[in-house]
Amino acid sequence: MRTHPPLHETLCGQEQAANRDHPGRHEPSVVAMNRLRLTFPGWFAAAVLCALASGCLLRGPSKPSEDQRVAATRRPLAALPRTAAERDLPARRADAAAGATSFAAHCQRCHGVQGAGDGPLAAALDPAQPDWTDPANMADETPAWFFRAVSRGVLGGGMQRFDTVLDEQERWDVAYFAWSRAVSPVQWQRGQALYEQRCQGCHGPQGDGLAEARLDDPRGVLRSREDYAEAMRALHGDLLEDVGAEDTAALVEHLFTFLYQPQAP
Ligand code: HEC
Ligand code: HEC
Repeated sequence: MRTHPPLHETLCGQEQAANRDHPGRHEPSVVAMNRLRLTFPGWFAAAVLCALASGCLLRGPSKPSEDQRVAATRRPLAALPRTAAERDLPARRADAAAGATSFAAHCQRCHGVQGAGDGPLAAALDPAQPDWTDPANMADETPAWFFRAVSRGVLGGGMQRFDTVLDEQERWDVAYFAWSRAVSPVQWQRGQALYEQRCQGCHGPQGDGLAEARLDDPRGVLRSREDYAEAMRALHGDLLEDVGAEDTAALVEHLFTFLYQPQAP
């Protein structure tokens, strides 16, 4: 079985790539590091740096920042650095319907039957859980973060890790069940119809029509809904001129179905 390093490492790779375009962005911390090394014995500086660097580890995985994610929208996925992408990816297309069973067994007591954060245990939890049925809360989430949170937990927030309870595929399936709580069947149908009219001719019915822009590239899990909308505007502004916000959102939902099988309505 493959082992997956944490997402923050994965994204560090992307950030390094982004920093090549913006040298000097991390200068202050580099200066601080040098100062530490000059002032203290090497081992002490190393210990301090280690403690700082493992901050993520102590708190559990941290959510990717907007900067990190935006790096993944300006170029097609195929152009992302491979090191950033090849880790932490699903081995096959996830299945939200399969995830529903795990969700009922392991998650709904806190997250609620529909993921609104209103399960019987919810009142006792601090911080409160997110309401995944509200599209506004889901706009900047990535499937990779959902998988990471399910796998490793969110320490300090009452969210345990499930990598000892569910296997890797089950965790992707349940992450996508949670992920898709805000989408209506009408939206999926609309997205599919628009895709057939405007996109399929180039990208193919399964999204694999163009080798240089495969829409079923598993690295899509690194993108949020906002990221996809932005990628589409950046690459296809001309095709989307007369497409309103709602239809763009429906198209984005269709793009995600190349990565997972949504639960049948
Ligand atoms: C005329 C052919 C054509 C049509 C029609 C078309 N695309 Fe594309 N699409 C491309 C090409 C070519 C690329 C790669 C762009 C590049 O490399 O700059 C691409 C890239 C993309 C990407 C980025 C893929 C990635 O790897 O990040 C997305 C998302 C996308 N298209 C979505 C759509 C959607 C949604 C539609 C319909 C509204 C659409 N495309 C219609 C040719 C097309
Ligand atoms: C004991 C209660 C509890 C159980 C059981 C539980 N969660 Fe959570 N979960 C939480 C809490 C509380 C948070 C918010 C943590 C925080 O923000 O610090 C959370 C956060 C999350 C997040 C991150 C959401 C975001 O918006 O960033 C995901 C994804 C998630 N849970 C999925 C699941 C799945 C899937 C299951 C079942 C396999 C599950 N949880 C089981 C309490 C729980």
